[in-house]
Amino acid sequence: MKTAITELFGIEHPIVQGGMHYVGFAELAAAVSNAGGLGIITGLTQKTPELLAKEIARCRDLTDKPFGVNLTFLPTFNAPPYPEYIAAIREGGVKIVETAGRSPEQYMPALKAAGIKVIHKCTSVRHSLKAEQIGCDAVSVDGFECGGHPGEDDMPNMILLPRAAEELKIPFIASGGMADARSLVAALALGAAGVNMGTRFIATKEAPVHENVKKALVAATELDTRIVMRPLRNTERVLKNAGVDRLIEIERQKGAALKIEDILDEVAGVYPKVMVDGDMDAGAWSCGMVVGLIKDIPTVKELIDRIMSEAEQIVRRRLTGFLDATHDRPLQTAAAG
Ligand SMILES: Cc1cc2nc3c(=O)[nH]c(=O)nc-3n(C[C@H](O)[C@H](O)[C@H](O)COP(=O)(O)O)c2cc1C
Repeated sequence: MKTAITELFGIEHPIVQGGMHYVGFAELAAAVSNAGGLGIITGLTQKTPELLAKEIARCRDLTDKPFGVNLTFLPTFNAPPYPEYIAAIREGGVKIVETAGRSPEQYMPALKAAGIKVIHKCTSVRHSLKAEQIGCDAVSVDGFECGGHPGEDDMPNMILLPRAAEELKIPFIASGGMADARSLVAALALGAAGVNMGTRFIATKEAPVHENVKKALVAATELDTRIVMRPLRNTERVLKNAGVDRLIEIERQKGAALKIEDILDEVAGVYPKVMVDGDMDAGAWSCGMVVGLIKDIPTVKELIDRIMSEAEQIVRRRLTGFLDATHDRPLQTAAAG
């Protein structure tokens, strides 16, 4: 399949693996890129720019296909040394960066001078337009369904994607709620040039996380995510667990007076406990509503091949079938279960 995104990034399939804290290591990024998608290493999971340089080198040993690095600009008092992370990306020869969080505006000159293509992930049309205006090559439009930070507008992709299509000139991919061929075809129909998947890629053989995490994703339903940290305007969609129940109770008690200090036990240092130790009740970690569509733990290649072959069936048989006015037989897909 050829879209503006496959052309822009030089990849075979319009499927991107979004940056994920403590998940987006070289193994997963390389597996996605080797399967024809775009794998992304999560920059800030590497505690120093030197460690990121090593992770990039490790990824390069595992794939000769294009891959990217995610740089998340966090609202933090102790900002990471972003220019040094960008230097590690540049010196590692990486030509694609996924930015997220705050606007990447101040770092655009450095990224562009290094010949890096920038895809900015954002949750609204206005932020997408800003990204276009400051020279981003593409955007990843993250709907309310998404795992991680959906912003404060609560706009689901059914509305957000066609609105983005109405306004943007640069290509965009649909992010949040994407899991299978149905998601891909729907995203393309709504104007996107591909999909970005987070949660779905965690439940794959190559994702370098504890087996408990993968099993929890398969067991969970679409009703099992929760929205937390809204009073702090740092809203995050997470998988419900005992730590998240405690967090929500503290939020209920404190109301608008909630401070980050009140919930540190439930939100700080949680990722290694969950992803490395498999402690599923440790606290808040990002997970999308799409968890309700995850029923298995395939290899990355099996997942991507399945999405692409079923997408072709949906387009050629189901959709053109409607146009040809032939009898529409219900399409059995692995994704449909
Ligand atoms: C466990 C997890 C960790 C994530 N960490 C980050 C991150 O560090 N930076 C970032 O930009 N996005 C992060 N995300 C968001 C994903 O890149 C992606 O935008 C999101 O998962 C898409 O929604 P989906 O989960 O419905 O596919 C994370 C998502 C998950 C599930």
